[in-house]
Amino acid sequence: MPVRIAQLSDAHLSPRFPRFEGNFDLVAEAVRAARPDLLIATGDLSLDGAEDEEDLRHAAARHAELGAEWRALPGNHDIGDEPVLGGRQPVTAERLARWRRVFGGHAWVHDLPGWRLIGLDTQSLTAPEAEAQWALLEEAVATAGARRLALFQHKPMTEQRLDDAAVTYWPVLPAPRARLLALFGERRPAFVASGHIHQHRVHRTDGLLQLWAPATGFIVGDAWQKPLGSKLLGWMEHVLHEDGTAEHHLRLVDGLALHDIGLIPEAYGPLRPLA
Ligand SMILES: [Fe+2]
Ligand SMILES: [Fe+2]
Repeated sequence: MPVRIAQLSDAHLSPRFPRFEGNFDLVAEAVRAARPDLLIATGDLSLDGAEDEEDLRHAAARHAELGAEWRALPGNHDIGDEPVLGGRQPVTAERLARWRRVFGGHAWVHDLPGWRLIGLDTQSLTAPEAEAQWALLEEAVATAGARRLALFQHKPMTEQRLDDAAVTYWPVLPAPRARLLALFGERRPAFVASGHIHQHRVHRTDGLLQLWAPATGFIVGDAWQKPLGSKLLGWMEHVLHEDGTAEHHLRLVDGLALHDIGLIPEAYGPLRPLA
């Protein structure tokens, strides 16, 4: 029997700011009806868990309500971001500890028949706390045996090519991306399933299949973010077969409100328009 995974991303939930709860309710109903074997939340579950543990606890409770076995990975709004980016919420030991209190590990390995899923924390790959995660990754690849590898993570690996050199808020930074590719070597993951961009895209680059899950909460309008994929809301279903093959489906849900975060400055403040 294949394993069916529901991937939800970027719910941005908070008991203080319920604007995105309605969309989550509709997606949750659709996912419950689909009865997945496993649910994976690929980051930004919370509106501002990087500051407020209550947001993390609320987001965890809402995802747990779906009734499936589930795992989560942190996004920038959950634990902060790579310190080198210079943002106002760098990932710190305190923020990681807060995540661990609510969700457990920020990086993990989950084996399924024929597969090894690796949950990657893309927010702290260059932080002082990073080496434990790199050790976990090395061990996961070294002991995978005949299993196919798949990565679940918040940020996509890249926007265009694996050797893109731009250092930006959006994909994994170039230096840890190169280190990841070296670590995997010949054992390239079958796919990388990510969130963060709030756009859906299926993108094969230099032999690596990237699957960008849409957000459940909101999109970022074209005035503030260039379109690379489709600006829609929903979730993804990944069907993994024991022989190492897989299918991936975008799941749309009727009735979702296409919130544009650029028009909701009360959530994160005004966004900077694209030049
Ligand atoms: Fe997000
Ligand atoms: Fe994000």
